[in-house]
Amino acid sequence: MRGIILSGGSATRLRPCTKVTSKQLLPIYNRPMIYYPLNTLIKAGIKEILIIIAPERAGDYLNLLGSGKEFGVRFTYEIQDKPRGLAEAFIIGENFIDDDNVCMILGDNIFEDDLSAEIKNFKSGGKVFAKKVNDPERFGVVKFDANGKAEQIAEKPKKWISDYAVTGLYIYDFRVIEAAKNVKPSERGEIEITDLHNWYLEKGELEVAQVNGEWIDAGTFDSLLEAQILAKEKLQDKLII
Ligand code: TTP
Repeated sequence: MRGIILSGGSATRLRPCTKVTSKQLLPIYNRPMIYYPLNTLIKAGIKEILIIIAPERAGDYLNLLGSGKEFGVRFTYEIQDKPRGLAEAFIIGENFIDDDNVCMILGDNIFEDDLSAEIKNFKSGGKVFAKKVNDPERFGVVKFDANGKAEQIAEKPKKWISDYAVTGLYIYDFRVIEAAKNVKPSERGEIEITDLHNWYLEKGELEVAQVNGEWIDAGTFDSLLEAQILAKEKLQDKLII
């Protein structure tokens, strides 16, 4: 299993705090934000981690994280020239993934749960994690049928379909590279990761698990504050780096 942390983007919702730095380098209590998704991957035993960053911030990431030796892992860095969408990570990461399985986590996503077993036990196909939220219109959402099986996944649907957001941790086999190359940009001009979930869902190869603990997408000022509180009150003794 290879790991990717997607840590580019423009972070417009956190201006002016992100005018001269990257969102994922802002502090969440006593660590830079990216340490939290890094913890998730390193705890799961992943040793090879690709960090995808925006060109303006590349030096800061290298200075902060270095080779990975300090954490007992190896980092590879790739530049995403423009934020063209989450699914582009698998095109940028093509050589890095090769024919392995890959677990991608968004650099601004913080999970209370230890997902190590889920990551380690993955065999093939796709696996994503859902969490009930109050503001589903902000996310890709998944609708379950009466048996609890995923039947529809939609990106930020205007019309309500479900309260379950797809969180920012995705596990796929290497076929995701070809699937990503075939995704057409959406109306907002992004290569949507929802199209990749649907590619696996249509084949009957997508598993959707539930996240029990707290999950925070720290992309707004309110969720950033919630993340600080979660980190201080519940995460400190769970972090290994
Ligand atoms: P978003 O929060 O959707 O986008 P953003 O970080 O650019 O913020 P804003 O909407 O406020 O402008 O992105 C989710 C995560 O994915 C975040 O960690 C940034 C990252 N990302 C990329 O690295 N490349 C991309 O092309 C996109 C869309 C996001």
